[in-house]
Amino acid sequence: MSTKLFTPITFKEVTLKNRIVMSPMCMYSCEPEDGTVQPFHIAHYESRAAGQAGLVMVEATAVQQAGRISAKDLGIWEDGHIEGLKKISDRVHAHGGKSSIQLAHAGRKAEDEEKSYSASALAFNESYQTPVEMSMQDIADTVEAFKQGASRAKQAGFDIIELHAAHGYLINQFLSPLTNNRNDQYGGNSENRYRILEEIIEAVKTVWDGPIFVRISANEYAEGGNSMEDFVYFAEQMKKQGIDLIDCSSGGVVPAKITAYPGYQIPGADTIKHQADIPTGAVGLITTGIQAEEILQNDRADLIFLARALLRNPYWPKAAADELGYTIEAPIQYQRGWR
Ligand SMILES: Cc1cc2nc3c(=O)[nH]c(=O)nc-3n(C[C@H](O)[C@H](O)[C@H](O)COP(=O)(O)O)c2cc1C
Repeated sequence: MSTKLFTPITFKEVTLKNRIVMSPMCMYSCEPEDGTVQPFHIAHYESRAAGQAGLVMVEATAVQQAGRISAKDLGIWEDGHIEGLKKISDRVHAHGGKSSIQLAHAGRKAEDEEKSYSASALAFNESYQTPVEMSMQDIADTVEAFKQGASRAKQAGFDIIELHAAHGYLINQFLSPLTNNRNDQYGGNSENRYRILEEIIEAVKTVWDGPIFVRISANEYAEGGNSMEDFVYFAEQMKKQGIDLIDCSSGGVVPAKITAYPGYQIPGADTIKHQADIPTGAVGLITTGIQAEEILQNDRADLIFLARALLRNPYWPKAAADELGYTIEAPIQYQRGWR
């Protein structure tokens, strides 16, 4: 049977051998608390590449130290981080996979820092500190930090960059009217709320000519938050700026109850794909090959991002291929166990 899940796809010069993406997942495993890659990270990412994920995306990696979610996050805020990240990228390439890294800044959700920063001085909830409202200089420094992060990602050999603009982290804090009450050019209407992301994309493009994905939260589950019209507007702007794919997640902007069920975030990927005419990634409780194939064949998204299913089983691509009656190549070392 021919499958779409195992059909290659190309973004700029980068061809993924299939549509399976290891979704970014913080491992909180940088024990020295200095942002550097540890042996665990290499084994963790290499094993998913050996399992034949087409794209392996490294977890949210902080572009500034103050932008870490936790002290054990990976970092890309200084050149000393490049060597370890390059080891991950090289080991992913050794298995025919493509490598990606999610560049991130936690903003007001930085948990272990003395001070946190955001669009406005609004805390996420009582257990978080109230962030400092970012000055023009803070914004310029952060845009520069994303650019420097992209330059280091290039030196580390990554094929694709993803900008983390979802889950209520810094960029999302600017995008959402729930977390941004600024009255300068970075707040107010959707054009202004988009401005920091626009500047980050332009800055990244000065040092990076490969594909760029952006992860957004395409549902804020709260009244007064961004509407689908706003998300389509943001997606249209991203398309104009040359973004290659929008990875459609949801939530995390404000405390809200989310009812999660298989495929619960796919409507966001589907609507944005068709209304803004840009490739999208689907993520969220996708667990079987048949489910993934349905999403792709019905043209609801272009890539399938898997998080927890790949934590349970690094060989999920093999299981999905078996389910779909398709044969995928084994890593050379494992051929005798592949039938
Ligand atoms: C342990 C863990 C860590 C995560 N860390 C990140 C992250 O670094 N960046 C991100 O965008 N999403 C993160 N997520 C969200 C996942 O990428 C994914 O969107 C979510 O788990 C839903 O997909 P799933 O149902 O396949 O797990 C994380 C999820 C898990 C389970």
